[in-house]
Amino acid sequence: MSQPPLSAEPDLSTVDLRTETVRTERLALRPHRAGDADAVFAACQDRETLIWLPALPSPYTRADAADWVTRLAPGERADGLGMPVAIEAAGQLVGSAGVHLRPGRLGPEIGWWTAPQARRRGYAAEAAHALAAWALRLGAARVHAFVDVDNTASAAVARRAGFTEEGRVRAALQRRDGSWADALLFSRLPGD
Ligand SMILES: CC(C)(COP(=O)(O)OP(=O)(O)OC[C@H]1O[C@@H](n2cnc3c(N)ncnc32)[C@H](O)[C@@H]1OP(=O)(O)O)[C@@H](O)C(=O)NCCC(=O)NCCS
Repeated sequence: MSQPPLSAEPDLSTVDLRTETVRTERLALRPHRAGDADAVFAACQDRETLIWLPALPSPYTRADAADWVTRLAPGERADGLGMPVAIEAAGQLVGSAGVHLRPGRLGPEIGWWTAPQARRRGYAAEAAHALAAWALRLGAARVHAFVDVDNTASAAVARRAGFTEEGRVRAALQRRDGSWADALLFSRLPGD
């Protein structure tokens, strides 16, 4: 009997990443679409979001939002580089999250943000938990998340989503001012 290949990466052979949607009790984690641009634009005016996600353009313009939802996010899915998702609750976009599929020994990386008016309702943790479960169900040996040591809200999200803190990785995240900050490395394994 042939054995499945051993791999740290999820097996995406049965998944159409361009359309894949993950559903939870309250959320649809679905592909972005053109109609999301206004909600993404509004949410990304938030100071905290721009601080903790230094890869976002700042100032964040309506054109940035339109480019993300119509070109960059669908492109990541089409190229097999990841599964960015709009977090939708009761028909409204309340945030974005994603599974980044860069190969490496740490496994897929999970990231998240929620819109200021939708915070403290458990949406980020519910989305992170479901995306981690999705990658692990597809055979990933582990998933991980890096959180800036000063981002206490996001560390709480990781813990609530079933991740375990593995340690502090020095000078792992570059802040917007160019300085390098330590990060907490979190992971979830299939048994967690
Ligand atoms: C961090 C962030 C995603 C939290 O989103 P959220 O939807 O409010 O999170 P949840 O409601 O799922 O909360 C999960 C846990 O985090 C805690 N939490 C959320 N915001 C918090 C805050 N500002 N301070 C302390 N704890 C906080 C919640 O109390 C909850 O903890 P519990 O399990 O002990 O009850 C949101 O504040 C955000 O988008 N921040 C800017 C972007 C960002 O930091 N992204 C992550 C980069 S690594």
